Amino acid sequence: MKLLIVGSGMYVSGRGTDEIGTILPAAIEFSKHVTNPNYQITVACTSLESMEQLWIRSDIIREDLRVKDDALVDCKLMDEINYSDYDACIVAIPDKNHFEVISSALKAHLDILCVKPLVTTHEECWGIEALLTDSPKDIITAVEFHKRFDKSNLTIRENINLIGDLLNVNVEYSQPKTIPLKHFKKWSGTSNPFQYLGPHYIDIISYITHAKPTGVKAVGQKKYCKSKGIDTYDSVQAMIEWDKGFNSMWDISWVDDLNSPSFSNQKIRFHGTKGKIEADQSNRGITIHSDDQKYTQPNPYFSKKYGSSFRGYGCDSIIHFLSLVEGSETSQLLPTFAESMTNVKTIEAVNNSLETNEYVPVDHKIYGDLN
Ligand SMILES: NC(=O)c1ccc[n+]([C@@H]2O[C@H](COP(=O)([O-])OP(=O)(O)OC[C@H]3O[C@@H](n4cnc5c(N)ncnc54)[C@H](O)[C@@H]3O)[C@@H](O)[C@H]2O)c1
Repeated sequence: MKLLIVGSGMYVSGRGTDEIGTILPAAIEFSKHVTNPNYQITVACTSLESMEQLWIRSDIIREDLRVKDDALVDCKLMDEINYSDYDACIVAIPDKNHFEVISSALKAHLDILCVKPLVTTHEECWGIEALLTDSPKDIITAVEFHKRFDKSNLTIRENINLIGDLLNVNVEYSQPKTIPLKHFKKWSGTSNPFQYLGPHYIDIISYITHAKPTGVKAVGQKKYCKSKGIDTYDSVQAMIEWDKGFNSMWDISWVDDLNSPSFSNQKIRFHGTKGKIEADQSNRGITIHSDDQKYTQPNPYFSKKYGSSFRGYGCDSIIHFLSLVEGSETSQLLPTFAESMTNVKTIEAVNNSLETNEYVPVDHKIYGDLN
């Protein structure tokens, strides 16, 4: 299998952090289990500088994971990429550039995994739907909603019927201000905390309840990021209605303080006519502090190196996609591109509501319904 990874940033290789990222270590970890001896990873970078950084990080990751094959990871500039040279593609670049890369990969009939949100507008959804119409029927498309592999969410899914008829869902999700101001400084002004964090839990609620959003109302605040020269929302509060008669309330932000003990503060609560299910997904029951390190509350289940193996639900979702491409896995757990269109249209509706201050219906029209 020839795998192309487009993007070499934080999520691919941990760039800008002390960590090793998720996508590249998972793809390298996969080399230990792959049955095809021709497995090769190419990372597409936008500049010579990011190529150099990627080489260094890739060597560190291989050494950490004790993968000796130094021909396993190759690196190329974006301009040198010919999509037809590959079997599969993982897209991990800023949201506004997803459509262009997905289009090129679909035209070359690659299997594709794209990080969330798939795209950001309904027009881009229609563009993808049109391309899918001309694609081979067995092409694999998936959006990287790794929370589907978090056993906390799977436990909610297994027990949701216990709480009767669902009334409402509450979601709290926030990350530190280094996200918009440092890690994503180049593109945070084209996104917002809801667009960045919200898609995951919209997908999880759909996955658990089999319901679809029908309309949204959102408000937001622009204070801290704006004072630092980035014109985007600090926090967003939204209400999303669903077609199975329940409601959801959202409190989303990316300006948590620098001493917040968790990188991802995340909680979800389902309230039904017979009971409640609550998951505190920040407090995973482990704390660390020392003379040299402030109090932290890490999430040991997302994606981490344990000894020389890379594990966690973030890793699981990448390995799941690669196993589907390889054929060693046949049952797809991640949603396809077509199944993720309502997710995109919900993000777009929230963005519209933030600007107009009005209730915005979520459009489920698909390409072909246009006339
Ligand atoms: N960081 C995370 O934990 C995380 C988790 C899940 C999903 N994501 C998603 O992954 C995507 C990228 O996030 P990141 O954290 O790696 O961001 P990043 O800013 O650290 O890296 C972005 C990468 O994209 C490249 N790039 C930018 N424009 C490009 C273009 N037009 N063509 C090709 N490459 C281009 C940059 O050179 C860089 O390598 C975003 O959509 C984000 O929502 C991130």
